[in-house]
Amino acid sequence: MEKPSALLTRFQEHLDGLDYPRKPEGLYDPVRYALSLGGKRMRPLLLLMACNVYREDVEVAMDLACGLELFHNYTLLHDDVMDRADIRRGMPTVHRKWDGNTAILSGDVMAFLAYRFVRRVPDDCLGDVLAVVDKAFVEVMEGQQHDMDFEKRNDVTEEEYMEMIRLKTSVLPAAALQLGAIVGGAHESDAMALYSFGLKMGLAFQLQDDLLDVYGDPKVFGKRIGGDILCNKKTYLYIKARLLADDECNAELDRWASYGDDKAAEKISGVTAVYDRLGVRGHCEHRIEALFAEAMECLEGMEVPAGRLAPLKEYVAGMMNRKL
Ligand code: IPE
Ligand code: IPE
Ligand code: MG
Ligand code: MG
Ligand code: MG
Repeated sequence: MEKPSALLTRFQEHLDGLDYPRKPEGLYDPVRYALSLGGKRMRPLLLLMACNVYREDVEVAMDLACGLELFHNYTLLHDDVMDRADIRRGMPTVHRKWDGNTAILSGDVMAFLAYRFVRRVPDDCLGDVLAVVDKAFVEVMEGQQHDMDFEKRNDVTEEEYMEMIRLKTSVLPAAALQLGAIVGGAHESDAMALYSFGLKMGLAFQLQDDLLDVYGDPKVFGKRIGGDILCNKKTYLYIKARLLADDECNAELDRWASYGDDKAAEKISGVTAVYDRLGVRGHCEHRIEALFAEAMECLEGMEVPAGRLAPLKEYVAGMMNRKL
């Protein structure tokens, strides 16, 4: 088995050498820009690690892994328009460096390129791969729609929130793991166990993202701190705050929600102060730990020898404490 760091290097080399057009530059330069800014490459790594559990040579899964990373980056280009985000991975977002239309069209082409590379798997697993990919890709959009719809509501329940993040965030890492298992030749029950594992870890991953959006170090996190607060996003912190709030805190949250971007700094510090007062950060951290434990349970009873899952478990454990 290969170390995650070795897989990451191989994946990066493969991605750098990916064959897609260069012209028109207006379309493809932003694609190259987005892909050059790094990111954790979590989805391709999960895919390759899952594949590596079942087969030594993961080369066969490289294009598929690139396809998922292209799809992920496409969602980010559009997400940053929707979330009015100026900074990602410490650099200007595509719609800021170029413009909104560029983010739309370069994002679109990334989505279609994603399909081009996703299809490059052995014939005997193409049908299964496409079924998993089709389902996950559509679900991400459904989650993103809920995310936008929830901006306008302040009565979103924890259950609705968990379903929204399952769709917008969890299904992709879950599918990555399932796809890696499929291409690796795993038994179907193992592939499903890895999918369930990915769903739980993805929920924890999004809770951590919500947390870092308020409490992260902007230099490390690479995104604007307080972006979710400005957009009136219904994050785990917000939902918990509403559950714990007395009349006074509720009134304060209502008031901050009516503030626009012209009073951004005030709004961010005001809402953060309410979160601090209610101690929602601790609740979020506990929930992350619980979800991680639930994720680990999904791996019990798998057919593969437990030792082969060790690198994957270690990698995901590291993700739970990520700062970026
Ligand atoms: C950002 O994903 C979008 C979320 C689902 C929170 P990542 O945190 O994996 O972003 P990169 O690819 O590492 O930049
Ligand atoms: C992003 O959720 C989910 C997708 C891009 C599908 P966020 O909006 O929280 O992601 P970031 O924080 O911008 O990376
Ligand atoms: Mg978003
Ligand atoms: Mg966003
Ligand atoms: Mg976020």
